[in-house]
Amino acid sequence: CGIVAYVGHREASPIIIKGLKRLEYRGYDSAGIALMNGDLSVYKKKGKVADLEAYLASQDTHGNIGMGHTRWATHGEPNDVNAHPHYSTSRNIAIIHNGIIENYASLKKLLIEKGHTFQSDTDSEVFINLIEDIRANNNCTLPEAVRLAMHEVVGAYAIVVLAKDSPNQLIAARKGSPLVVGVGEGEYFLASDATPIIEYTNEVVYLNDYELAIINNGELDIRTKEDVKQTPYVQRLEMELESIEKGGYEHFMLKEIFEQPRSILDSMRGRMIAESNHLMMSGIREFENKFVNANRIIIVACGTSWHAGLVAEYLIEDLARIPVEVEYASEFRYRNPILNEKDIVIAISQSGETADTLAAIELAKSKGATIFGICNVVGSSIARATDAGAYTHAGPEIGVASTKAFTAQVTVLTLIAMIIGSKRGTLETTKLHELMVELETIPSKVEEALQLNDQIIKIAEQYKDVANCIYLGRGYNFPVALEGALKLKEISYIHAEGYPAAEMKHGPIALIDEQMPVVVIATKDSSYEKVVSNVQEVKARKGKVIAIVTEGDTTIPAMADHVIEIPETSEHLMPLLSVIPLQLLSYHIAVMRGCNVDQPRNLAKSVTVE
Ligand code: G6P
Repeated sequence: CGIVAYVGHREASPIIIKGLKRLEYRGYDSAGIALMNGDLSVYKKKGKVADLEAYLASQDTHGNIGMGHTRWATHGEPNDVNAHPHYSTSRNIAIIHNGIIENYASLKKLLIEKGHTFQSDTDSEVFINLIEDIRANNNCTLPEAVRLAMHEVVGAYAIVVLAKDSPNQLIAARKGSPLVVGVGEGEYFLASDATPIIEYTNEVVYLNDYELAIINNGELDIRTKEDVKQTPYVQRLEMELESIEKGGYEHFMLKEIFEQPRSILDSMRGRMIAESNHLMMSGIREFENKFVNANRIIIVACGTSWHAGLVAEYLIEDLARIPVEVEYASEFRYRNPILNEKDIVIAISQSGETADTLAAIELAKSKGATIFGICNVVGSSIARATDAGAYTHAGPEIGVASTKAFTAQVTVLTLIAMIIGSKRGTLETTKLHELMVELETIPSKVEEALQLNDQIIKIAEQYKDVANCIYLGRGYNFPVALEGALKLKEISYIHAEGYPAAEMKHGPIALIDEQMPVVVIATKDSSYEKVVSNVQEVKARKGKVIAIVTEGDTTIPAMADHVIEIPETSEHLMPLLSVIPLQLLSYHIAVMRGCNVDQPRNLAKSVTVE
């Protein structure tokens, strides 16, 4: 979910609506706003922020203080009633909430017994009634009631609370879900991330877990839930406004796909210069001994980031000869994993806010492992929870389906594998230098791969109406097959499966007939000959083969129905190129099917609930 709030000298409503649109990638099944305009008014609607905006056109939306929310449903279906903000029973206070209150059922029962009434099915409404109950019973101020309520609720939250009797006061609190305070001149902003804020100010304070921010009459007061006053640590953001706008592209996803030559370069900038044999990452340097002597590296991540982790498994095992395990964070955190001080855990996350990944980190920490984070969002929860780390520098990624963050993650992981390999002596100097030289050519080779766009549009036209699709790859291209399939299903709702090409004969081959498109990544590498056999197996069953091949290949084109040629590179770096046509293919198919590419149904960009 996305949260925005404002207090200051301007009209709050336009700032909040614009902010919600910028945050819409975090959730978009309903939206709502609360404003102080003499009364405490709440307006909310099922659907997109634009639906709310249309509804607001006929309402009184004046006021200099307010808060808004865009929702990704957890408790209760998406409808007007379950949309945020939620009033308390007396309608004197209201809340917006991102996260999950785990003990909401027992709290709700208690509150009902005390006479509170509920309109919605949400856990958030329980939170605001709890605050109201505490305020009445303890006869205390609202900030005090919020603080005390933080001791009662179990789960994750970022909240903002507004009260009718305090028309100049915003109260916010967080535990587990992100919240940023923007500090302007005589005005304050609150938001789930900095994107709604940077248009107005680049000075921000990241709230920590179990902290409470009270903005009252132009003053910001931050306290812990134990009521210890904190000195706000104001940071300057370097984000540019244009990086969060579409810049002439029809969708953020397309813009982000085309930004990859740049984002890959930015991810290696300062870390590697082949000519002078410079290879360095400050986060690694600090923990160099640990990396060099690690027993094992465990990678935890979700979704696309998990696919980047799989690529890293091949890279690190091959170049640095350290055993690697790649784990879904959600499984890892609950299965009592075996870990010790000689293990390094690498957590990969674009948003830096994924709840499961964050929990996996906390677990690994408690077992003494060293935690290294790879995040894209500066100042995010995961970036702050790790011992050391590296940012991917891909710039803000707004499209829900991850593209440039993936290639940036793979770039950073490649550098890490190279650094550890060279320190451990498992990667000899000449081979290392060759790889560095080759990695430097990748941005321009990605540029070449992007020129395949028109050819891919034609292929997309032919396959836009299929019901299923299989993706195959081996070795370094196996994770790419998984990623290609994920991209297609996320945004076009076509059922797609990625498989290691050889594994196909143990099941998926049963699906192949003349209707089934099979995307095969068959670039020239150590498993090329084997992939050729797999393509023959598909053709023998009359499947339609769309092959991604290395420029100049003649064997596969003689067999495949469609051929997409990408530049040659080392197999270690191939995922950075072979994923590009797959991103474009899924993008164009989704557009042709009339799908909302940037905001696919049921998904959210930043999953701050488990
Ligand atoms: C969500 C997004 C995916 C992303 C995954 C992990 O499911 O829709 O695109 O890969 O979360 O997110 P993270 O921010 O941790 O990389």
